[in-house]
Amino acid sequence: MDPNTVLFLLITLRSAFPEPIKRKFPENFRFGTATASYQVEGGWNEDGKGENIWDYYTHTYPDRIANQANGDIACNSYHKYLEDIVMLKDLGVHFYRFSLSWSRILPEGHTGKINQAGVDYYKNVIRALKQNGIEPYVTLYHWDLPQPLQEKGGWPNTDLMVDLFADYARLAFSLFGDQVKNWMTFNEAKQTCQLGYGYGVFAPGVQSNGIDSYKCAHTVIKAHAKAYHIYDEEFRASQKGRVSMVVDTDWFEPASDSDRDRKAAERKIQFNFGWYANPIYHPDGNYPQVMIDRVAKRSKKEGFEKSRLPEFTPEEIDYIKGTFDFFSLNTYTANMVKWSDDFPIGYVSYDGDISVVTYQDPSWNSSASSWLKVVPWGTRKLINWVDKTYNHPEIVITENGFSDDGELDDEGRIVYYQEYLSNILEAILEDGVNVTGYTAWSLMDNFEWLGGYTEKFGLYQVDFDDENRTRTPKKSADFYKKVVATRCLVDQCEN
Ligand code: NOJ
Repeated sequence: MDPNTVLFLLITLRSAFPEPIKRKFPENFRFGTATASYQVEGGWNEDGKGENIWDYYTHTYPDRIANQANGDIACNSYHKYLEDIVMLKDLGVHFYRFSLSWSRILPEGHTGKINQAGVDYYKNVIRALKQNGIEPYVTLYHWDLPQPLQEKGGWPNTDLMVDLFADYARLAFSLFGDQVKNWMTFNEAKQTCQLGYGYGVFAPGVQSNGIDSYKCAHTVIKAHAKAYHIYDEEFRASQKGRVSMVVDTDWFEPASDSDRDRKAAERKIQFNFGWYANPIYHPDGNYPQVMIDRVAKRSKKEGFEKSRLPEFTPEEIDYIKGTFDFFSLNTYTANMVKWSDDFPIGYVSYDGDISVVTYQDPSWNSSASSWLKVVPWGTRKLINWVDKTYNHPEIVITENGFSDDGELDDEGRIVYYQEYLSNILEAILEDGVNVTGYTAWSLMDNFEWLGGYTEKFGLYQVDFDDENRTRTPKKSADFYKKVVATRCLVDQCEN
């Protein structure tokens, strides 16, 4: 591209947004970056690790992934974690959010067989982080279920999975909890349940939309609550840490000011987010009422004997609600929502249960991921909505980021971070929302699920053609480093 075109593109990119605000993040605000086990580790069958559903899925259905890619080697962090920690140290981040691979620790999924090499790997990672002054933020489940548990039905098998997850969580707390003070049980369980057991496009590829996807969510929510109570009863007094569950959502903006569009947008966020967030984070607990009512009504019309949405007993509602120490929120983009009449009865689905129309405005800037448009103001609205709906919790943004083709001169990512962080800061300083941390997804380019290695989210570039998986800082790494060091989004802040 000739320099004039580059300049023109840069000006257009920047002028699409208002100036970032010139005030500083509060002193106690925490910045971090994140990755997840399957996306970066590799070493898929090394040193006693068991097979998980993503190993199985990518090996069995290679054509479902862009360029038939898989996570067999990924960024090779299983061997190169010390290099990752040098990168984190250079960025100056306060914490690193990563996930444990369940099948690296428990190859068969249950605590009857523990893989010591897997335990040692995570102990080494955690020790090296702490030695470098970086807090480990650990997710127990970032989508990589041990395959033997899938063969027993996986997440829709509530009776089996709640207890097995709780055993795994207890083991993790006891092995690593002296050093790990921030735990996340599940990451974005909606993707596990709706993409994995509803549409069947993610591992394990089960198509049971609006049936098993609801059962999966029911299990996950109960499993989270049980893990939280285990922490509370057996570990909190001695370890003094915090436990949360990561829930994700886009912002949903009504397509017009009409009552119907506003109602449609609210219904969409309740189904998309309230589904997981309400039982845990809402003062009343339980699924959102609109979801309970609509799924019951449609199930009846479809001829089901009872609602496809499982019910919590009053005891379960009480047991689950309040099982969090802070609110973990992942968010990337926004959608517009339009009212629709109820979709016709016939095809049983979660989308039919919601019955709204969503779309993204064609004027919004794009990324390398079809779903990810750049809509920074949506995030400010979302965190205000979360604050109001869930009674002013402490919020940590546990993921936010931008994809491109992997270029080192990644101006699009810099603009994204600058604008999103500016909106988050305005929510803190002007709207009084209690956001205390921010996590850039991702530390480095990695395996982006169905997108394979074609959608790059990293602050560091990884050369996947080089067996050394060489890491190189992008321009955005310098930008983020400066933000972390100065707490300021522009060259000079006012305070
Ligand atoms: C959410 C997921 O937690 C993560 O695994 C994924 O790579 C990013 N979003 C980007 O899609």
